[in-house]
Amino acid sequence: MYIDLDKEEILKHISSRAFHLVSEAADELKVEAYVIGGYVRDIYLGRPSKDIDIVAVGSGIELATAVAKKLGKASRLSVFKNFGTAQVKSGDLEIEFVGARKESYQRDSRKPIVEDGTLEDDQNRRDFTINALALCLNKGRYGELADPFNGLQDMENLTICTPLDPDITFSDDPLRMMRAIRFASQLGFFINPDTFDAILRNKERIHIISKERIADELNKIILSPKPSVGFQLLDSSGLLSIIFPELSALKGVETKDGIGHKDNLAHTLMVLDRLSRHTCDLWLRWAALLHDIGKPATKRWDNRLGWTFHNHNFVGDKMISGIFRRMKLPMNEKMKYVRKLVNLHMRPINLVDEDVTDSAVRRLLFDAGDDIDDLMMLCEADITSKNPEKVRRYLNNFRLVREKLADIEEKDRVRNFQPPVSGEEIMETFGLPPSQPVGVIKEAIKNAILDGVIPNEYEEARRFMLEKAKTMGLKPF
Ligand code: CTP
Repeated sequence: MYIDLDKEEILKHISSRAFHLVSEAADELKVEAYVIGGYVRDIYLGRPSKDIDIVAVGSGIELATAVAKKLGKASRLSVFKNFGTAQVKSGDLEIEFVGARKESYQRDSRKPIVEDGTLEDDQNRRDFTINALALCLNKGRYGELADPFNGLQDMENLTICTPLDPDITFSDDPLRMMRAIRFASQLGFFINPDTFDAILRNKERIHIISKERIADELNKIILSPKPSVGFQLLDSSGLLSIIFPELSALKGVETKDGIGHKDNLAHTLMVLDRLSRHTCDLWLRWAALLHDIGKPATKRWDNRLGWTFHNHNFVGDKMISGIFRRMKLPMNEKMKYVRKLVNLHMRPINLVDEDVTDSAVRRLLFDAGDDIDDLMMLCEADITSKNPEKVRRYLNNFRLVREKLADIEEKDRVRNFQPPVSGEEIMETFGLPPSQPVGVIKEAIKNAILDGVIPNEYEEARRFMLEKAKTMGLKPF
């Protein structure tokens, strides 16, 4: 992945007007200026670079002000005096400025004591050697690389390593333990053994980090090409049981009378990896991660059946709002979507039987609605058997289920079905206030359509409503 770039190629990545304006402004102010961090790392990795971070050996705010002036009216300057930082925005461009600093942290606080420092002080306080690379922007040294910690070498060796003693780097900002794992998962890098040992030692410090920042990193791990890499590292470092005990509880195999169940964490991660080959949708990937989350709570030993996990999908569905709330994940329709997929993930397999009724197929279409294709994708990823014959059979079964779903949808259009007689019409017809009988009639109409008793049409539904009401002793108003 690492690209051995020559100077000319590097210059190409810092050739835009914005970089030249920073250069001019820095020379005029007689300060050194460097582009640093993720932008430089991504140049070498050949990844698209986005946010630009500039460090000035001097005042970052003054440099930002001068650059904003040069960019003219189209630019917007925001100054954060308390932090000694500033941001310049112009169109799609976003540049962060900071003065080179030396930071030291107190043990129980995220608030560092900050002093002005040299470039090297600033590189020292960064998380990883690959994120500490800096390219000079001053005229005589334009494009010159400052790499005091052999970040390029680590990039070549695909290594995540802290610039300082890792105990100091992680203690300064414990989120970096998750960042190390996230970069390993995202970039396919390995964590240096000393760096990893320091995560084992410092894991409890993750408690001082806000839930939002942890969730951000977790989402980036979930979105990485092979998320199991990140989750396995979270597990082996001991962080998983702290930040996500429900997932950690899936780990392990219990044996009784010589019969073991599968390791549900290993299975879950395999499902997540398999699904991730087909989708980059964060919430569908979350559904894969959580699809069996109800298994530990529902695990039973049955002398006849062996290990069972009855209703784990329903129990899992119910656990999700608690998990999302604690992790400060969105409690909106994204969560509802994840819950729905977890709840429904056992349903398609039940439609495999030859003699399955149209009614069962219609009900799944109705319950899944527009998420039916995502559900099928999840169910197919859920086949993790090592026996190729079994896999072939299951996949073929799901192909048949997909055909049944498509046939019924084409015939009956129940996917986004709205009962053709509304609650208002029922109330008006029988002179009823909003009350239980209205719900009973509405539900009966819905079931009659889904069960194929009547077609999904207004006239039939109205006739059915009148009949049903009669059996309940109701007469038109
Ligand atoms: N950084 C750090 N410690 C952190 C966060 C950030 O030292 N906890 C430094 C790193 O040098 C990093 C730079 O700040 O490269 C910018 O941070 P950020 O934008 O959060 O991350 P990137 O490295 O740019 O990566 P990504 O955009 O993928 O998050």
